[in-house]
Amino acid sequence: MKLPEELQYIQNSLKPQRTTDARLEGKVCVITGTTSGIGYETAKRLAQGGAHLVMVCRNTEKAASVQQELAQEYGADSDVVLADFADLAQVARAAEEIRGKYPQIHLLINNVGVFNRRRRLTHDGFEMTFGVMHLASFLLTRLLTPNLKAGAPSRVLFINSEAHRFGGFSLKDLNWEKRPYVGLWAYGAANIAKLHTASVFADALQEHAVDVNVMHPGAVRSNIGMNNGIFYRLYKRYILNLFLKDPAQSAEAIYFLSAEPALEGETGKFFNMTIEEKPAWYAVKASISQQVYDKSEALIRPYLKENV
Ligand SMILES: NC(=O)c1ccc[n+]([C@@H]2O[C@H](COP(=O)([O-])OP(=O)(O)OC[C@H]3O[C@@H](n4cnc5c(N)ncnc54)[C@H](OP(=O)(O)O)[C@@H]3O)[C@@H](O)[C@H]2O)c1
Repeated sequence: MKLPEELQYIQNSLKPQRTTDARLEGKVCVITGTTSGIGYETAKRLAQGGAHLVMVCRNTEKAASVQQELAQEYGADSDVVLADFADLAQVARAAEEIRGKYPQIHLLINNVGVFNRRRRLTHDGFEMTFGVMHLASFLLTRLLTPNLKAGAPSRVLFINSEAHRFGGFSLKDLNWEKRPYVGLWAYGAANIAKLHTASVFADALQEHAVDVNVMHPGAVRSNIGMNNGIFYRLYKRYILNLFLKDPAQSAEAIYFLSAEPALEGETGKFFNMTIEEKPAWYAVKASISQQVYDKSEALIRPYLKENV
C-alpha cells in the first residue's frame, strides 16, 4: 500500500539503506557538535573513512577526549575549534580560525542540535532552538562558503529532522514572543528555517560545484533533550529510548551522503537517512525560502565580513 505523499516518510524509514566504500583521504571535513550522539558517531565514521576532521564543539574536555579517541582508534589527524553556538560572535571567530587554517574545505556537516521544553534565549537574544540550530549554522555556512567553493567539488549537509513536519515556523515570530512556547513546534520551526535556507544555498552554490543537501538522521538514542527537567529526562531515558535506534546507523547514512561519488552534483535534496524524499511543502516553498534566507542574512549581518 502506498501512503499519501505527506506520510511516505514512515515507509521510507523502513527501507534498506544505501552504503558506500568510498574513502575521504585528503578531504577536509568540518563537522559541528561531535561530543555526543549522531555527531560523535559520524566523527568516528569519517575518521575511519580517512577524512581530516575539523570538529567545532563547545566543550573543551569532551572535544579533546573525542580527538584522542579518533587518533588512537583510527590514527586520525583532527582539529578542534571551540564555539558555543548560542553566541554568534564565537561562531564567527571559529569560522575565522577555520578559514585561516583550511583554504579549501570539501565537506561541511551542520549537525549541532538542541531541544528545549521551555523557551530559552541565546547570548544574542534569539530563541535557543532557532539561534543554535538555524542561525549559528547559517552563519557558519555563510562564512565558510568561500573555502567550500575553493575546495569544490564539495558538499554541505544540513542535519535536519522529520520533526520539521510538526510545523511551528512563523517569519513574524521567530523568537516565540507572540505565541505560547511549545518545544516540539520550536524544534520543527528551526528545522523548517534550515530547510528553507538550504534550498537557497543549493541554488546559489550549484554553479560553483558545492552540493547542498539536507537529511533526517533517523530516530536514534542520543543526548538531545537531556538538558530539560527531570521528568523529561526520565521519560527519554526509560521510555523513549526503547523505541530509538543506534546512532551509528545515522553516522553510516551521513557518511554515504558525504562520500558516495555517485551523489556528486546532486543538490537541493532532502534525504530520509539515504532515501530521497519530499520534505513538507511549506518548508521549501520558494517564495518563502528567499524571505527566510534574507531575514537570516539580516540577523547575522553584524558577523559577516565584506568578502563573504
Ligand atoms: N537523535 C535523534 O533522534 C534525531 C532525530 C532527528 C534529527 N536529529 C538531529 O541530529 C543532530 C544531532 O543531534 P543528537 O540527537 O546527536 O543530539 P546530542 O546527542 O544532544 O548532540 C548534540 C551535539 O550538539 C552540541 N551542541 C548543542 N548545543 C550546542 C551549542 N550551544 N554550541 C555548540 N554545540 C552545541 C552538543 O554539544 P555538548 O556535548 O557540549 O552538549 C552535541 O555535540 C541535531 O541537529 C538534531 O536535531 C536527531
